[in-house]
Amino acid sequence: MQAPIGVFDSGYGGLTILKELKQQLPQYDYLYLGDNARAPYGTRSFDTVYHYTLEAVEWFFKQGCSLVILACNTASAKALRNIQQLDLPTLAPDKRVLGVIRPSSEILGQFSFSHHVGILGTTGTVQSQSYPIELSKFAPEATVFQQACPMWVPLIENGQHEGPGADYFVKLYIDQLFAQSAQIDTVLLACTHYPLMAKKIQSFLPENVKLVTQGDIVAKSLAAYLQNHPEIDQNCSKNGQIQFYTTDNPTSFEEQGTVFFGQKIAAKHTDLA
Ligand code: DGL
Repeated sequence: MQAPIGVFDSGYGGLTILKELKQQLPQYDYLYLGDNARAPYGTRSFDTVYHYTLEAVEWFFKQGCSLVILACNTASAKALRNIQQLDLPTLAPDKRVLGVIRPSSEILGQFSFSHHVGILGTTGTVQSQSYPIELSKFAPEATVFQQACPMWVPLIENGQHEGPGADYFVKLYIDQLFAQSAQIDTVLLACTHYPLMAKKIQSFLPENVKLVTQGDIVAKSLAAYLQNHPEIDQNCSKNGQIQFYTTDNPTSFEEQGTVFFGQKIAAKHTDLA
């Protein structure tokens, strides 16, 4: 049976990834789920994020999806490995769940000349040490400096990210990152919410620092994955359609989600159970 590719985030952030998937792989169908009722995930414990993410993955499987992308760094950092290693073999050995940390780590080192790389993410992503671990495999020459930015997701989710109130917290976390190393020349926005604030973040970065977002990287990596895995690709439906679901209020999701996705969306409510 063919079904859409599942795209999951704690809330709206994954829409910045989906936007790029639609751009680069428009032939596929996508099913987006934002767990807005339980967002944000960034400050929650490992067990909680794992439990919530597994419920979401099971929901996608119930809808028939063979491939699910965790378009959320926090879920990728705290749940992906367990789901891949402990759950999938018994739950659905023929299905696949992929994250956003590995594709980003595969390529990030290539942008840096100083080999000092900065990671801006949620507290959960930073504490998991997922980026230093993955980057040590793909860019062993790189030294990784991380900064948690716990105020950014609330600012974005409340539509305050472009206002002057956001300036304080953007400057604060960037100053804290560069206090760790003035030689950082490449910074990854390792949270799928942050691209909405990319312009403001760039304006507070020292000149000539490259700011990297994940949408393009994840889309290219997915394209390569589907090409290399025809057995998964053949289960993905290709009518160019996208459906949006939220665990919270669909009207709010439509309003806010449009800002993240860049075009009008129609959403439905779902319970995960
Ligand atoms: N968008 C999620 C990420 O990429 C974080 C949002 C949240 O804290 O729920 O990490």
